[in-house]
Amino acid sequence: MNVHDSEKMLGILDKEGYSQTDDPRKADLIIFNTCSVRQKAEQKFYSDLGRIKAYKKRSPTMRIAVAGCIAQQEGENILRKAPYVDFVFGPQNIHMLRNLVSGRTAYIATEDNPEIAKTDLPVKRADGVKAWVTIMYGCNNFCSYCVVPYTRGRERSRPTENILSEVKGLAEKGYKEVTLLGQNVNSYRSDTDFPGLLRRLDRVGGIERIRFVTSHPRDLSEELINAISELSKVCEHIHLPLQSGSNKILNLMNRGYTFEEYIRKVSKLRGKVPGIGITSDIIAGFPSERGDDHLQTVKALKEIEFDGIFAFKFSARPRTKAAGMEGQLAEEIKSERLSQILMIQNEITEKKNRFLEGTIQEILMEGESETDKGKLTGRTRTNKIVNIPNPNKGVEKGSLMSVKITKGRQHSLKGRPI
Ligand code: 5AD
Ligand code: SF4
Repeated sequence: MNVHDSEKMLGILDKEGYSQTDDPRKADLIIFNTCSVRQKAEQKFYSDLGRIKAYKKRSPTMRIAVAGCIAQQEGENILRKAPYVDFVFGPQNIHMLRNLVSGRTAYIATEDNPEIAKTDLPVKRADGVKAWVTIMYGCNNFCSYCVVPYTRGRERSRPTENILSEVKGLAEKGYKEVTLLGQNVNSYRSDTDFPGLLRRLDRVGGIERIRFVTSHPRDLSEELINAISELSKVCEHIHLPLQSGSNKILNLMNRGYTFEEYIRKVSKLRGKVPGIGITSDIIAGFPSERGDDHLQTVKALKEIEFDGIFAFKFSARPRTKAAGMEGQLAEEIKSERLSQILMIQNEITEKKNRFLEGTIQEILMEGESETDKGKLTGRTRTNKIVNIPNPNKGVEKGSLMSVKITKGRQHSLKGRPI
């Protein structure tokens, strides 16, 4: 979501005649697009912001903007801490960037924006094969640990027609894959619901693959499972954050499901969509999590066998209910639990990837691998990275290719074209 917000900022700046530079010393404008979902990201931002002060001293006409969720959360505190910042705007006010470039300074834009879903911004995308497409903004769930409902505001769905025409436009430009974005895509509701939206998008010629993030386990419906199973372009992958294997903790998190309910949905998914890749998010060390709650998470990981997870230490966020809960845990306990979770999952991920050795998978060619020099890279429909040798005869970016998996590793697969 945050990366795509940057693409919207670039879209606006492009129209205003700006071009990008990799060298901050040459920039007329520097925008920090920040994340505040966990404290670590926030600390990193403040140290980067401090570093940029010297650049501005050297070129006083340079303007500095802070965008994203820290901007929303901190507002004028940012100007107090860093008076050299010219403009602070939250994720609901990206359109205000135009004002900054037209010359206003020290402006703060953090108002709620009820029109956000109806006002489309220009987007400048870096990739020519895969594109992010926003389908909804904000979140109404108020999971007790999460800052997003406070920074991104209320849930608002984009009109179906607008999404359709954006995706058609992307297909015309040669894009092959779209990833639909929302904090909770399953509660998308406009002229149609989320499965209905998928059905309409599945018919857009030229688009080969449709993905979506993120799904909330509580709202994952039978209709959605059927849509994934029936629609040929909708990929066999779902990111379904579990957060914890303990019902006591899930309840304190205000997640709205029990572990048993979660497992039932996973079984249904696997029953109706054979081979589906399931990934998840886990939080280690939520307030009042005891050793046995943690063990239930460990047990859950072993039972479910996710294809991969993102796991984080609980981080107390401003205004959230969990930040004020009793039983906050020491950093060491959180770290210990997190590393145990990661160790167990790494083994599972590698095992599952090795299991794919010898199988034939379809990959969407994305070009040269950044991590494995000299190799080409693409993803399976289940969202696993596959690196293949570069045959030197110009494999086209954006083409679909059948590959045989020769090796399964922890973070990627190796394959060869057939
Ligand atoms: N502390 C730790 N992890 C968090 N996440 C969201 N808020 C917090 C927090 N306060 C994690 C959740 C969510 C993912 C995007 O970030 O696992 O699914
Ligand atoms: Fe945060 Fe929960 Fe909304 Fe996800 S569903 S953005 S975790 S409040």
